[in-house]
Amino acid sequence: MKIKSKDAEKFTEYYRKKHVTGTYDQQRQKSVYRRDKRQKELGIFLDLLDKKQGEKVLELGCSSGFLTEHLGKVIAIDTSNDMLEIAHSKNPESKCLPGDMFKIPFKKESFDKVVTMRVWNHLDKVDLRKALKEVKRVLKPEGHLIFDAEEKSFLRRFVSFFYKRIFKTTGYVIYQYSLKEIKKMLREEGFIIEKGKYLNHKVGRQIVFRIRSI
Ligand SMILES: C[S@@+](CC[C@H](N)C(=O)[O-])C[C@H]1O[C@@H](n2cnc3c(N)ncnc32)[C@H](O)[C@@H]1O
Repeated sequence: MKIKSKDAEKFTEYYRKKHVTGTYDQQRQKSVYRRDKRQKELGIFLDLLDKKQGEKVLELGCSSGFLTEHLGKVIAIDTSNDMLEIAHSKNPESKCLPGDMFKIPFKKESFDKVVTMRVWNHLDKVDLRKALKEVKRVLKPEGHLIFDAEEKSFLRRFVSFFYKRIFKTTGYVIYQYSLKEIKKMLREEGFIIEKGKYLNHKVGRQIVFRIRSI
């Protein structure tokens, strides 16, 4: 099986473009609504991650370090060197390394926790399963993964399409899942859901999961 689908390749390429890396932070701070939503999202992720002293934590797709900045000593990987540079400047304690989440450059059972924010919502079902398998490999037994998914909502898809056109915001295509679909996938890939929190958007919502490898 190929490591990455064509779509996942495109996703990676998209976030290497200068106009995307160069505007990523500004766009997410553009309005009070966006800033507030990001702060809420950050709070939920940090709460579910619950990083304890001495735990080895890996962040996937750290981008410009919005979450990395708050993680203290952490290893963060991304496929964009420009993004990694920005992330490291926000958290000099972090190790920000080039790396692909479909082929994580670490041995099996290396981490207590893995976290990925707003990355897996860009993966289709096949890639999502590949990414889950790869995280399971690098997690210690009973290790935790924190990730988010966008809940199925036709209305949100419709509204997002026009929003992007009008405000020219960047962002790769987002896949939506029902809770039932996610639960089935996680069960089959050897994880159980410990906690889930909803983040409401103006239209639709995002679910942030804390799951455990079994
Ligand atoms: C939407 S941004 C991530 C957002 C960031 N975590 C945040 O919340 O601001 C997606 C990130 O995933 C990275 N990425 C894309 N494909 C990747 C891959 N195969 N492995 C690791 N990172 C990847 C991109 O370079 C980009 O920085």
